[in-house]
Amino acid sequence: MATKKIQVISHDEVDHPTHELALSVLEGLSNRPKSLPSRLFYDDVGSDLFRQIMKLDEYYPTRCEAEILEKQGSKILSHLKETNFNLVELGCGDGAKTILLLKNILEQNKSLKYVPLDISKAAVESLLENLEAEFNELPFDVQGLVAEYFQGLTWLTENVAQRNLVLFLGSNIGNFNRPMALRFLRHLWHSLNDGDLVLIGFDLKKDLDVLYDAYNDKKGITKKFNFNVLDRINQTLGGNFDCSKFQHQGLYNIQSGAMESYLISQEEQIVHIKELGKDFKFAPWEPIHMEYSYKYLDQDIQFLSRSTGFEILENFTDEKGYFVDSLWKVKK
Ligand SMILES: C[S@@+](CC[C@H](N)C(=O)[O-])C[C@H]1O[C@@H](n2cnc3c(N)ncnc32)[C@H](O)[C@@H]1O
Repeated sequence: MATKKIQVISHDEVDHPTHELALSVLEGLSNRPKSLPSRLFYDDVGSDLFRQIMKLDEYYPTRCEAEILEKQGSKILSHLKETNFNLVELGCGDGAKTILLLKNILEQNKSLKYVPLDISKAAVESLLENLEAEFNELPFDVQGLVAEYFQGLTWLTENVAQRNLVLFLGSNIGNFNRPMALRFLRHLWHSLNDGDLVLIGFDLKKDLDVLYDAYNDKKGITKKFNFNVLDRINQTLGGNFDCSKFQHQGLYNIQSGAMESYLISQEEQIVHIKELGKDFKFAPWEPIHMEYSYKYLDQDIQFLSRSTGFEILENFTDEKGYFVDSLWKVKK
């Protein structure tokens, strides 16, 4: 009988969430230019808003990656020789796309332990609900982890004995700039065994109108997703952000190759945050940087793998050529 459990890995963000949020906000709003880290998006409300974003007509990454996993899942799995392995997913979200790959794995009579990890407990819980809705009786063990990426990597080092396939889907990697991506991937390499596999979703560079529409949707869900961070600061830290005085904008940075999200103060204003005992002054049209979403070329993917000790086994692309799931092998 398959087992299913959620383990919350103790760390500052779990044990002292208000304290950690306060430090992130203090640091970010004291920066010039002001910024807030993108992991703050994913409280329970934010995780739910992201699920709505994934269903938007304009938000192509989810559809493209689902197409890859559905149509090319068996080809991806043909690189995995073992019949028994750990499927570890970093930043799993609701796992809706992963279910497509899981079905493929089961069709091939492979057996696995699935370890989905996310910083958001709500995301891991919704993933477990999705799994239950999809499979009458779970045909594999699931150990959900509520943890930050780097803690997940430490968990991997301590717990993984057999072959691992690590998923890092949805272009989560795009939230890291180049030095952070290199650091993360090298840390991942250290946490894995020789011959382990990693499947990473990269959003490719493409027509700027397609990018612009995806990050500035007509229904305004992406805008709500951004404003939710200000609401979260108001509710948890006693802030007095007035969202109606900020404008949301997703812009493509031609130099860095990233979509960047901003909340822009429409007037001169002072925001007070009670828990921090501090005022933050905004000049008219001053931005808060909210998120990077880097876009890639084939050569960027090659550079990242080569620099961090991986070998690219195969790249899997959707029909439009918008997205790549790149399968890498650990070389030690
Ligand atoms: C863009 S969503 C993608 C979700 C999923 N990979 C997919 O493709 O649908 C990013 C996910 O990563 C999680 N996340 C963001 N920063 C994280 C961190 N530092 N550690 C662990 N999870 C994180 C978020 O909670 C969210 O569920």
